Amino acid sequence: MSDQTTEQAPVGESNVPHPTDEAGIQHAVDAALAAIEAAGDLNELKEARLAHTGEKSALSLANRQIGKLDKSEKAVAGKLVGGARGRVNKALAARTVVLEEAEAARILIEETVDVTAAARRRRVGARHPLSVLQDRVADIFVGMGWEIAEGPEVESEWFNFDALNFKPDHPAREMQDTFFVEPADAHLVLRTHTSPVQVRSMLERDVPVYVLCPGRTFRTDELDATHTPVFHQFEGLAVDKGLTMADLRGTLEHFARQMFGAEAQIRLRPAYFPFTEPSAELDIWHPGAKGGPRWIEWGGCGMINPNVLRAAGIDPEEYSGFAFGMGIERTLMFRNDVPDMHDMIEGDIRFSQHFGMEI
Ligand code: DAH
Repeated sequence: MSDQTTEQAPVGESNVPHPTDEAGIQHAVDAALAAIEAAGDLNELKEARLAHTGEKSALSLANRQIGKLDKSEKAVAGKLVGGARGRVNKALAARTVVLEEAEAARILIEETVDVTAAARRRRVGARHPLSVLQDRVADIFVGMGWEIAEGPEVESEWFNFDALNFKPDHPAREMQDTFFVEPADAHLVLRTHTSPVQVRSMLERDVPVYVLCPGRTFRTDELDATHTPVFHQFEGLAVDKGLTMADLRGTLEHFARQMFGAEAQIRLRPAYFPFTEPSAELDIWHPGAKGGPRWIEWGGCGMINPNVLRAAGIDPEEYSGFAFGMGIERTLMFRNDVPDMHDMIEGDIRFSQHFGMEI
C-alpha cells in the first residue's frame, strides 16, 4: 500500500461518515480492513494504522463527533463506532502477529551463518630469524646485566678506523672492503663492523662499561652463498678495573653454552686485530653441528688495545677491558643449518615461518 492511497487520502469532513451512519461506518471499516490485509510488511502496516486509526482517520473523526450528538443518538453511535474501531484494532493486532512472524523468518534465512563453510585463512607473518637471533643474543647479555648500545650505520672514518687504532696506512684498513660515502672530505663510511660502537659507548658512558652492540654492517662483497654486502654483527665490550683474558673467556663460554647447549666449548687461537692486544680468533665446539660435533670459527676477540682506551678518554693504567665481535648471519648459518645466505635476504616468508616465532 502506497503513501498516496493511505496517508494522503483526503479526509475532509465529507469523507467522514456520520457516527450513526451504519453504511458509512462500515465503508470506513472495509477500507481499513482492506488496507490492513494489503500491508505486506510491518512498515506498510504502520501506514495503514495511521491512515485508518490515526487522529485524522474517518473513524476517529466520527468518534469525536459523538460528543456533539443528542443523548438519544449517543448510545447508538457509540456502539456503532466503538464496534467498528474494535474490529479494525483486532484486524491490526492479528496482522501484526502474522507480519512479525514473517519478518522473523526472513531474518533467520537472510542472516543464516553457514557453520560448515571453510574458514578464510589469514596468513600470520613471522619475525625474521635474524631479528629473532639478534634479540636472543641481546637477552643473554641483558641477563648478565649488560646494556644494549647502538650506533649510526653511516659512521665517521674516525670511529670506524682511527679510534680503533687502524693507522692511516695500516694494511688492516685494506682488510675491510669499505663503502666510502661522498663527498670524500666528509670522511664518512658505511660502517664495516660494529666495533666503532665500542668507542662511542666508552665516550658516552662512565666506567665501568658493559655493553652489547648489535647492528647492521656493510662491506663491498658480492652476494653469494656465504657473503652479503649488508649483514649484521654484534659487538661486546667490557671495561672495568682488573679485567683479564680470564673474564673474556668466562663470558664467552657462558654465552656459547646459552646459545649452543651445555656441551658447547670455546677455544681461543692467537690472531691480530688493531683494536685488541692480545687478540684471538674464537672457535666454538658446536655439539649440534650438521654432520656431527666440530670446531667452528665464530668471531674475533681480545683485550682492548690501550690506544683505543686512550682514544675514548680512559686511562689504561687504571682500567682494562675486553671485546669480541661476531656475525649474526654466520651464527644463524651454522646454528640453524642454513647453507645459503640467499635464503636469509630474499624475504620469502616460508623461510621465516620455518623457524617459528622463537629459534
Ligand atoms: N670487528 C671485527 C670484524 O668485523 C670483529 C672483532 C674482532 C670485534 C675482535 C672485536 C674484537 O671486538 O675484539 O672482523
